Amino acid sequence: MLIALCSAKGAPGVTTAALALTLSWPRGAVLAELDPAGGDVLAGYGRARLSAGGLTELQLAARRGGLAGQLDAHLVQLDATGRARLLPGLSDAATARHVNWERLAAALASVEDGAVDVLADCGRLRAEHFPAAVLRRAAAVVVVTGSTLRAVRAAAQAVAELRDEGAGLAPGAGVLAALVVGPGEPYGEREIGEVLGVPVVGVLPRDARAAAVLSEGAPAGRLFAQSALLRAARSAAVRLAEFAAAHEVRLTPPPTPASAATAGGRRDR
Ligand SMILES: Nc1ncnc2c1ncn2[C@@H]1O[C@H](COP(=O)(O)OP(=O)(O)O)[C@@H](O)[C@H]1O
Ligand SMILES: [Mg+2]
Repeated sequence: MLIALCSAKGAPGVTTAALALTLSWPRGAVLAELDPAGGDVLAGYGRARLSAGGLTELQLAARRGGLAGQLDAHLVQLDATGRARLLPGLSDAATARHVNWERLAAALASVEDGAVDVLADCGRLRAEHFPAAVLRRAAAVVVVTGSTLRAVRAAAQAVAELRDEGAGLAPGAGVLAALVVGPGEPYGEREIGEVLGVPVVGVLPRDARAAAVLSEGAPAGRLFAQSALLRAARSAAVRLAEFAAAHEVRLTPPPTPASAATAGGRRDR
């Protein structure tokens, strides 16, 4: 199952939210850093770990064919168990124009053995070389927003754009959702859901200390797992996984007895 996260203009926190969700995901999860502006996670949470692989090399490998089969070799473990893994993003934003997002999206959407989901950090909506193809294939598209008037207005605009068929971004109807970072500044979950007209599938509090562990690679310490941010991420992860699973089912409905019979009938003829 592929889940895309993106932000509207001026709403920071997508990468941190995507990473917190990936580490808290109820199943195995891959965080795919698809922000055309480049990847941050290895330099931050990865604490400057160098890695072979990642999106840049996966692109080169793709020219030799079979992208989906090569994905595993380009992932980096994010936790001790290997349940959470990372596809490191571009190290050079200038290379974003060479990425074949359509092909990559197809490969990421095909990672569905039931045990692993892919969370794609797509960065800011409308950025140059934005991976729109990923949104079109995702079971859920999550707009990450703050709760200030400015943030909610920008998110509302983003939702409108995502719904505009002409803009070429529109994912399947109904797959849009929102995730609120820093609620109560002043708007809350319910108000934001009403204004945006999409379900809010998670709320992450402001928690500078835990966020710095995720975004800057600050030492985690014993209390990190019990921080307000990680606790909220765990419940958001469950909600989002359920939301996406419901839509995944709708995107690929099982054959009903009636349609199976019709299909069988056609084959007989
Ligand atoms: N929930 C949060 N609470 C406090 N600070 C946060 C939170 N989420 C993100 N930040 C901080 O905001 C900054 C930008 O976050 P990041 O996730 O990299 O944003 P983006 O990917 O949207 O550019 C980082 O310094 C990060 O620590
Ligand atoms: Mg980011």
